[in-house]
Amino acid sequence: MSTAFLPSFWALVPAAGVGSRMRADRPKQYLQLAGKTILEHSLGCFLDHPQLSGLVVSLAADDPYWPTLACAQDPRIQRAEGGRERADSVLNGLLRLTELGAQEQDWVLVHDAARPNLARSDLDLLLAELADDPVGGLLGVPARDTLKRAGADGRVRETVDRALIWQAYTPQMFRLGPLHRALAEALVADVAITDESSAIEWAGQAPRLIEGRADNLKITRPEDLDWLRQRWAGRR
Ligand code: C5P
Repeated sequence: MSTAFLPSFWALVPAAGVGSRMRADRPKQYLQLAGKTILEHSLGCFLDHPQLSGLVVSLAADDPYWPTLACAQDPRIQRAEGGRERADSVLNGLLRLTELGAQEQDWVLVHDAARPNLARSDLDLLLAELADDPVGGLLGVPARDTLKRAGADGRVRETVDRALIWQAYTPQMFRLGPLHRALAEALVADVAITDESSAIEWAGQAPRLIEGRADNLKITRPEDLDWLRQRWAGRR
């Protein structure tokens, strides 16, 4: 895809989570994968993009791992302070982007720190599809498996119609001003916000779903990392 028609954008990577489901000795974004940390792979897809205006990573204030990485010295990457929840970390990152010169109408792509397998073709697809969109949207994948709603006893209550169900991935692409307002207002209203799309939805807008690759997975459990390590064996 030619980059000539892609819009310029800012990238924001919230990386202040702990990832306790990995049962590791450190936050999951700092686990090793093919010679680098997961976080470095997650940042990598953006850094060489010709349309990138700047990149902010939100980090826990006492994060001892980040300063040891080579990319901590990269002048293209700026740091923001992480917050209690993901949405707080994103909000801090948006404020940092504004300090760096990002404007109300600029596109911001928010990407999980633990999603290291984003393909450049998916990133360009998202940028191309949403370039003129009034709301923005996100990468996602239609649900493949039959879905069950469980009861507290661990038994199936019902089978859910999967025809219109998608898994929400990242990057999620919204304009800075509307995203900032939606997140700030949702937090004040104490609404549960697990991704940027849910804040925009709460504000009454309908983000567009762009079908991406299923292997843009978020490392959540040890077997996710085992799978990617095997797939990338020999890659440096
Ligand atoms: O825990 P989960 O994988 O859903 O987190 C999604 C993303 O949000 C991760 O990149 C994680 O580091 C980030 N996060 C954050 N600040 C928090 C909680 C999560 O930046 N307080």
